[in-house]
Amino acid sequence: MTIYRGTVLDTPVDPFTGGTLRADADAGLLVRDGTIEARGGFAELRARHPGEEVVYLRGGLVLPGFVDTHVHFPQVRAIGGLGMPLLDWLSRCALPEEARLADGGYARAVAAEFVSGLVQAGTTTALVFGAHFASAVDALFAEAARTGLRITSGLVVSDRLLRDELHTTPQRAYDEGLALARRWHGVGASRYAVIPRFSLSCGDPLLQSCGSLLTDVEGAWFTSHVNENVREIAAVAELFDGRRYLDTYDRHGLIGRRSVLAHNVHPSDDELACLASRGASVAHCPTSNAALGSGLFPLARHLAHGVRVALGSDVGAGTGFCLLKEGLQAYFVQQLLGDDGARLTSTHLLHLATAAGADVLGLRDRTGDLGAGRRFDAVWLRPSAGTALDVALRHAADPEDALAKAFVLGSPADIDTVWVDGRPCRSRNPVA
Ligand code: GUN
Ligand code: ZN
Repeated sequence: MTIYRGTVLDTPVDPFTGGTLRADADAGLLVRDGTIEARGGFAELRARHPGEEVVYLRGGLVLPGFVDTHVHFPQVRAIGGLGMPLLDWLSRCALPEEARLADGGYARAVAAEFVSGLVQAGTTTALVFGAHFASAVDALFAEAARTGLRITSGLVVSDRLLRDELHTTPQRAYDEGLALARRWHGVGASRYAVIPRFSLSCGDPLLQSCGSLLTDVEGAWFTSHVNENVREIAAVAELFDGRRYLDTYDRHGLIGRRSVLAHNVHPSDDELACLASRGASVAHCPTSNAALGSGLFPLARHLAHGVRVALGSDVGAGTGFCLLKEGLQAYFVQQLLGDDGARLTSTHLLHLATAAGADVLGLRDRTGDLGAGRRFDAVWLRPSAGTALDVALRHAADPEDALAKAFVLGSPADIDTVWVDGRPCRSRNPVA
């Protein structure tokens, strides 16, 4: 067993419903076989377990591992394509790069870059938009399994309006998805997700085959895009006889507790009510929404309807893997909405980046906070001496202020160590 000693911050109780920041300046976390067995003040925990090894995470902050609820595996090398709205960005930046993953060697290299990008940013759990090629999705699951990262992912399917090499058929989508699910669903920390890219690129028969696969793979997840961009929404309405965007999925049984819809920047009240009644969730992707000019996310309306919301980086339209940056951008957007915006503190941002994501993904019993009984998925944010964040943290007024400074100034360069399931996955320095 190991006792980790440090300044530990987390949000075990949802701050949107009255929870507060749990902050222990000198905490001890007793970890056995990857599970946090006890949490308390360090001195008291040490007295109860005098013989155990102590790992002193001196300085900085220990946070729960981040949970990214929307990130695209094949877009690592497409990050940074600025200056285009969604549909132009897809055809000029994302889709040409995604077509390259037909090549197995290319896909394996991108899978390694992708998983490394997540871990370096402190992300320990992710709902990942896979590739359009089964072999590439296989490479992703294999790479994630190597590091122990908790991923939920699957084959992305489409049958129109992208590029020929990215199109499939309803039967092939079902067969390839089922084969991948049989290989990976429930293996280690991996789970399978059914993923039509978006209704714009999927006809009804393909969405129906997605519904069949979701039914046939016990416990599988569903993810897609919805209501991201006004031109996209108008095109979907035209293709589906004026139906609301969410209905194009819902009528095929795709919206339920294990469904996560990305963006939802322009929802109707009916769609929010439907999401809430189904227990479905929304992945809010703030840097992507800003970079593509998609719009300002109506968080307060989601909260008012009782829709679950967590953060997604949406790499590569999003500007990087770091959920600290997404949290800061989420804050900016609510400020820009003025009276229509939700009032967010750093505690809300931490919650959105950790426990809310774990809840959205049905993993709250395992991860999302650093309390007893959870697996030890953690990030040690320890900036180098003399950096702006180091100075800010040393002069923080209180834990919530320290956390705000972490969101405003923090980046992957400030992360020292990341643990997934108790195992160090990224270490800037040997832990001592
Ligand atoms: N809608 C359909 N595909 C995509 C994608 O790759 N990124 C984003 N942001 N939206 C999409
Ligand atoms: Zn996306």
